[in-house]
Amino acid sequence: MAKAWQSLAWRRCGSCRLRRAAGVLALREAIADYLRRSRSVHCEAHHVVITSGTQQGLYLSCQVLLGEADSVWVEDPAYRGITAILESIGPEDRIVHVPVDEEGIDVAAGIAMDAHARAAFVTPSHQYPLGMPLSMGRRKALLAWAEANQSWIVEDDYDSELRYAGHPFPALQGLAPERVIYLGTFSKILYPSLRLGYAVVPDALVDAYVGARILMDRHPPTADQHVLAAFIKEGHLDRHIRRVRGVHAERRTFVIETIERLIAPDLAWLQPSDQGMHLVLWLAAGLDDREVASLGREAGVALRPVSPMYAGRKGPAGLVLGFGGFGDKAIEEAARKLAAILNKLTK
Ligand SMILES: Cc1ncc(COP(=O)(O)O)c(C=O)c1O
Repeated sequence: MAKAWQSLAWRRCGSCRLRRAAGVLALREAIADYLRRSRSVHCEAHHVVITSGTQQGLYLSCQVLLGEADSVWVEDPAYRGITAILESIGPEDRIVHVPVDEEGIDVAAGIAMDAHARAAFVTPSHQYPLGMPLSMGRRKALLAWAEANQSWIVEDDYDSELRYAGHPFPALQGLAPERVIYLGTFSKILYPSLRLGYAVVPDALVDAYVGARILMDRHPPTADQHVLAAFIKEGHLDRHIRRVRGVHAERRTFVIETIERLIAPDLAWLQPSDQGMHLVLWLAAGLDDREVASLGREAGVALRPVSPMYAGRKGPAGLVLGFGGFGDKAIEEAARKLAAILNKLTK
């Protein structure tokens, strides 16, 4: 009798822990509802695993999807948050750097390089760092490849809320919910120190993601999840996104005007894009983006070099200019410092 009671209690604790590992149900319901409405993601609460941000979603995906011998596509250039994970778990030669052009990742090139990769990590709504959305033709080609090869697509939808011109493409996940793992984050739209995000996972992978989550850090802290669930359910997130989109659109216009006013176009020029909280500034031949970023850091300006985001950590020189948390005065001051650095280096 005692034994039966014990094992029942044991199982109850076990399943309670499993539920906790996926995250607070109220938050998973609120996120599923938000994603269905705003991104055409095809999901229910039981597909949602709360993460401590996209970084953990990327890490979990590598753990769950990739066997030791599996090759994997990444975009070239790509977010260092994914290529650095893959380099750290090795071997490096399984990373297939698929070039990106004005339509996003070049699927035909990927197939020519390695048709049998196990997974593709992509940023379809706003290629990181360059900013173009993945075209509809490429979306279809990517999904057709994944379906034919039974490969997984990991969709990092890191700042899709911040599209300024027209309607964003719906999520890739909505077109193939059984092939795509959809990663989202509250880092961009709320704040990065919140450390809350989500993975929307196909039925076949839910247990594996939750299991990997338990091994990694048990479960996300509970209190903030309840607060965020109420914030979304009471409509604050939708209002916040509408307001923030307006603020960022103005700030972005100000960054573009300021750069074009203060920096000579033969020294640096902006990559066109219509989304997000950063811009890419290409640098003229002869300028070293790592050196500019390092001089920027000394002057108190955070600039991320673009060339290390390419395969072999070698690519054209450029800088990621993040403008998320800054007012006009700080932006103007940073642009002046950057102009001074570029002028000095090219004198
Ligand atoms: C491409 C990309 N993915 C994801 C993230 C967000 O990561 P996290 O949710 O871990 O803060 C960022 C943040 O800069 C990013 O640039």
